[in-house]
Amino acid sequence: MIGSFFSGADHRTRRNDESRMMKIAGLHSALRTAILAVVFSAGLSITGHADDFQAKLAYCKTCHGLSGQGYHGYYPMPRLAGQQPKYLENQLRAFIEHRRKNAIMANVAHALSPSMLSALAHHFRDLNPPPLGGGGSGGAVATGKRIYEEGLPESNVPACSACHGPDARGQDQIPRLAGQLPDYFYSKLVNWSAERGQNSSMPDSSAVMGPTSHNLTKSQIAAVAAYVSGLR
Ligand code: HEC
Ligand code: HEC
Repeated sequence: MIGSFFSGADHRTRRNDESRMMKIAGLHSALRTAILAVVFSAGLSITGHADDFQAKLAYCKTCHGLSGQGYHGYYPMPRLAGQQPKYLENQLRAFIEHRRKNAIMANVAHALSPSMLSALAHHFRDLNPPPLGGGGSGGAVATGKRIYEEGLPESNVPACSACHGPDARGQDQIPRLAGQLPDYFYSKLVNWSAERGQNSSMPDSSAVMGPTSHNLTKSQIAAVAAYVSGLR
């Protein structure tokens, strides 16, 4: 009776010990899981930046094309491929700072951190898809080439090549025009003073294009667009 009582007590203590051991073991494994979680999430946050960049880039490409070649839609999506990083960076900031007006890109650019903005601006430089083209007839192309290379002295239009370069590849904050979509090119020059330089407290590089955009007729703009849109 007493023996069985003790053996019963013994049994209970053993069971208590076992459950204490299990608790300790459980604690160890919980701790191990916690440590692993910390290590793992540190690893994740490193790859997380890359994932974030790829996700943002994929988003840009839904509109600007898989190789940044642009897209002729209802609203022309400009080519970004081969574009000067400093120009892209300045334009993304211009959308944020309301220097440049475009509702779609204002929303897109506002969501970018400064480092993401800079990383994206540098990404497109090395992409080199063929131009989408669609610029117009041979006559317009020849007129456009002449305006691009010589300007129109009688209308106070300087040679575009003086700033945008002989191959229209641009430099720093001066954009590449080679391969740009003609419908985008046309609409930017026609609407220049309604879209660029819109923040009077922050004058910017858009001012140098103001007079030139005004001094060109619409058919001259279309001619230059036809010429540069075919350049690689
Ligand atoms: C929903 C469509 C859409 C998405 C997404 C989008 N863009 Fe745009 N983007 C446009 C349109 C439309 C324009 C032309 C704006 C204009 O006409 O002024 C533009 C213009 C630009 C310009 C100015 C180009 C130039 O030649 O001056 C830059 C730079 C740009 N986008 C970068 C980006 C980047 C980087 C991303 C991704 C973070 C992005 N865009 C995502 C539609 C989009
Ligand atoms: C004095 C230098 C200079 C000359 C000359 C010049 N440009 Fe520009 N151009 C610029 C700069 C700088 C910008 C960028 C403006 C900005 O920051 O908004 C620009 C922007 C543009 C853009 C906008 C591109 C885009 O992706 O939105 C077009 C189109 C353009 N120029 C066409 C021309 C044409 C056509 C000529 C010749 C008739 C010409 N430019 C002559 C300096 C110049």
